[in-house]
Amino acid sequence: MDDKVNTGHNIEDKKLIINARKPVGELGNQILDRMNESHESMAQWGVSHFEINENDIILDIGCGGGRNLERFAEQITTGKVVGIDYSEVSVEKSIDFNQKAVADGKVEVIQASVSEMPFEDNTFDIVTGFETIYFWPDFIGDLREVNRVLKKDGLIFLCNEAVYREGEMDKYADLIELLDMNIYSSEVLEESLKKTGFSDFKAYFNDENDWICVTARKI
Ligand SMILES: C[S@@+](CC[C@H](N)C(=O)[O-])C[C@H]1O[C@@H](n2cnc3c(N)ncnc32)[C@H](O)[C@@H]1O
Repeated sequence: MDDKVNTGHNIEDKKLIINARKPVGELGNQILDRMNESHESMAQWGVSHFEINENDIILDIGCGGGRNLERFAEQITTGKVVGIDYSEVSVEKSIDFNQKAVADGKVEVIQASVSEMPFEDNTFDIVTGFETIYFWPDFIGDLREVNRVLKKDGLIFLCNEAVYREGEMDKYADLIELLDMNIYSSEVLEESLKKTGFSDFKAYFNDENDWICVTARKI
């Protein structure tokens, strides 16, 4: 999601931005390059809220252009970083962006939907999702799927540059219509995570930018 662009302006902008939901073709490639840069400050802020151990097995869902896979791969030694995305173009871009780490077996990227992930139960220490939950088709069911693949006490981390606040959603109206997206409040995130087998919920806000990130642990 890239809300720095006024989606009301022209049809070309809209054709590009619509690719944030599922990047396709050349415009998909372009938006992935752009998101690797435009999401960087938010991602740096977000990841400052949890620890990574060098032997962690980490999954990034909706990995897009692959910048967060690179970030995590730099922090592990014996661990592993896996990215999934349901867009073929995102998978290609993430592999290209992390060529060496992929060749070394440190990073793996798989085309898959969050709703049905090709992993055994209790596989990951950390599961992350940056700017992607807006588009998950069945949020509660999909959180249950995340819970399934996390190890006990494993950490879920979700980070968004848009947060639902009563009476303040007009600024997102164009994006919501264009992208058919769900922008969640902290309360809904907490309730949803509690309902799907997580505890120890924490929410962090960056009010200057309207960013939110949350963490919780698998019970
Ligand atoms: C706005 S982009 C964010 C990409 C990246 N995480 C970032 O922060 O730059 C959303 C990504 O989530 C992926 N995505 C959306 N719904 C998904 C789903 N149901 N399963 C897997 N990936 C999904 C899209 O294909 C896209 O690459």
